Amino acid sequence: MGRAFVYVILGGGVAAGYAALEFARRGVSAGELCIISEESVAPYERPALSKGFLLPEAPARLPAFHTCVGSNEERLTPKWYTEQGIELVLGTRVKSADVKRKTLTTAAGETISYKILIIATGARALKLGEFGVRESDAENICYLRNFADATKLVSIIQTCNGGNAVVIGGGYIGMECAAALVTNRIKVTMVFPEAHCMARLFTPKIADFYETYYESKGVHFIKGTVLSSFENDSDGKVTEVVLRDGTRIPTNMVVVGIGIRPNTGLFEGQLAIEKGGIKVNGRMQTSNSSVFAVGDVASFPVKLFGSDIRRLEHVDSARKTASHAVSAIIAPETISDFDYLPFFYSRVFTLSWQFYGDSVGEVIHYGDFVAGRCGAYWIDKGRIVGAFLEGGDRDDYAAIAEAVKLKMVVKEKGEVEELGVEFASRA
Ligand code: FDA
Ligand code: NAD
Repeated sequence: MGRAFVYVILGGGVAAGYAALEFARRGVSAGELCIISEESVAPYERPALSKGFLLPEAPARLPAFHTCVGSNEERLTPKWYTEQGIELVLGTRVKSADVKRKTLTTAAGETISYKILIIATGARALKLGEFGVRESDAENICYLRNFADATKLVSIIQTCNGGNAVVIGGGYIGMECAAALVTNRIKVTMVFPEAHCMARLFTPKIADFYETYYESKGVHFIKGTVLSSFENDSDGKVTEVVLRDGTRIPTNMVVVGIGIRPNTGLFEGQLAIEKGGIKVNGRMQTSNSSVFAVGDVASFPVKLFGSDIRRLEHVDSARKTASHAVSAIIAPETISDFDYLPFFYSRVFTLSWQFYGDSVGEVIHYGDFVAGRCGAYWIDKGRIVGAFLEGGDRDDYAAIAEAVKLKMVVKEKGEVEELGVEFASRA
């Protein structure tokens, strides 16, 4: 015996929170909807974990950053779910799914059935062991994906004040955690295999701007290499990181951010998979019509890119795919296929950037790379397809977003370089 619901959201992260809000707005009845999450807390704005949550003073703490405050929407506390009659099944891992029978089985052995399932399982952090480094369960090695990881990271940071940290990985987690560690008076060495930080998005020129800024804050970069092992003390704590060339870096703690893998495992062999995610159509519907997928785990057609299938790992797409899926489920006649402008951002120290679109084609940089209002356009087939800006204001970001949305035609590349954001303002 088990429980039965009309709608089940599997996963309790960002997408789940935004889906719940949309369900409530569209009028779900008490007892119809349940959210199952391995985490022990109600859906929250995950980006806070590498930013406000790590601040030494007045850190962000739950319940302040439950979804959907990140979009200036209602804050959905556990009480809100109770009031709506939405069942929150927390601390519960689903260990198998059967889309033909429309059932999920939890690790404790309970069967939960649904009429419509929304998969919002997000992703897991890759582990060093998956890159051939001997796994270490030392307590001062931190990954950062969920609330439990962030809570552990904060407690390790508190023991390392004035000490040293090695950050492995030069992506989003590496950059944001390095900034947070510095703010906590910890000296940081960053190690990553690429020639510059944020290699998935930044051009060498943009990366140079950030690396110079980080160096001014005392961060040391070791690029083009990876670690090979850890040296532990008798308590099992890591004391040194050993690089491939034998260099030893003494440290009090390690933060690892080496990418993610979407949590598709429960559905492999049952649903179509593409680009590492669960393939959906413009209604977020998978190859099984009773199952939808949203957020980091979903690969969806991006109209702007000729309906190319993409899997994005960013909060804005998690929020919007979730709302769209619920609209498609409850009121299909009111919506058309998802039309999304990819949007990424980050905030570190006093810096802050936004990116819209696709980073393909020829790059034209603009602005002041010393003072910091600077950026780049990506131009493909004579049109703007991507735009990046550091240090803009609300109007600037709206302008570059619009330029990408309209795929502005570029006649004179020199003009784009000279006008910078002002070029987009003509959109
Ligand atoms: P999300 O990971 O949020 O939620 C998935 C949920 O499913 C989790 O609660 C998990 O426990 C649960 N789950 C998985 N498998 C399960 C199972 N078998 N049974 C039960 N539950 C299961 N993006 C951005 O644009 N700007 C930013 O500044 C940041 N900052 C940022 C910081 C940090 C620390 C991280 C880790 C990530 C970001 N991101 C970001 C990325 C952003 O947070 C991410 O894209 C969204 O959280 C994706 O939302 P989802 O709901 O898809 O997954
Ligand atoms: P990432 O893909 O951004 O970066 C991974 C980094 O790992 C690479 O840049 C590379 O430097 C490094 N790397 C890869 N293999 C390595 C190895 N063997 N040894 C050392 N370094 C290695 O992933 P992430 O930084 O781990 O972020 C995880 C997820 O969280 C991503 O989905 C990201 O989008 C999300 N996130 C987003 C934001 C944001 O949008 N502001 C902030 C934090 C996290």
